[in-house]
Amino acid sequence: MSKIAILISGRGSNMTALLNAIKTKNLDCHVVCVIANKKSQGLEFAAKRNIPTRLIERNKFDSKETHEIKLIDVLLSYQPDWILLAGYMAILSPKIIEVFGGKIINIHPSLLPKFKGLDTHRRAMEAKENKHGTTIHIVTNELDGGPIIAQSEINVLPSDTSETLRHRVLEEEHILYPLVLEALTKKYLEIKSFKVIWHQAPPMFELENKAIEVSVKPFLKIKNIV
Ligand code: GAR
Repeated sequence: MSKIAILISGRGSNMTALLNAIKTKNLDCHVVCVIANKKSQGLEFAAKRNIPTRLIERNKFDSKETHEIKLIDVLLSYQPDWILLAGYMAILSPKIIEVFGGKIINIHPSLLPKFKGLDTHRRAMEAKENKHGTTIHIVTNELDGGPIIAQSEINVLPSDTSETLRHRVLEEEHILYPLVLEALTKKYLEIKSFKVIWHQAPPMFELENKAIEVSVKPFLKIKNIV
């Protein structure tokens, strides 16, 4: 059974989607801890579900370095197979990436390599993009630049604002992250030494009523086509 650690900073809706999927899809994995770098709604929610939670507040440490040393120590004590960043709003340093190399996965609200960093929805609107979406990738030393595991793409609608776009992308994230976790636990997807190898797409019952195109090479790509 895979041991999963989830790192959050806020609301934790992606974490909740992962927890729900583990339960409803009976995934062969166990969330060993949820860690937040600030007081957050998501951490309270995880605690209510009896998941071990740790608050390692960045502002209680003198430096990013000392904060991360603590984070690494706590993570090592849980021996996770995978560390899933779910709205963890801090840039990880090379040290933590070296310790857990290739096991840290992030979800980012854009079609990477487009719009790395913050405020992706507003920037996509300003750039008059007609496609936007979300990406799940392995964390490397390059900000939002690691190998892509999966992407979900939506059309930007003429009526969209940054807020409606954020909302619609978040809905995609709540489907995509659980699918990636399912694929990992069922070995449809392997991640070895920072390499992403898809063997097959996971079953996508959630998307049965949607018009989508799916491909798995070089990564899982779900295109919403209407
Ligand atoms: C999500 O949209 C996630 O993609 C984004 O923060 C949101 C967290 O929402 N992450 C990043 O921007 C990381 N660079 P949540 O707390 O409700 O899951």
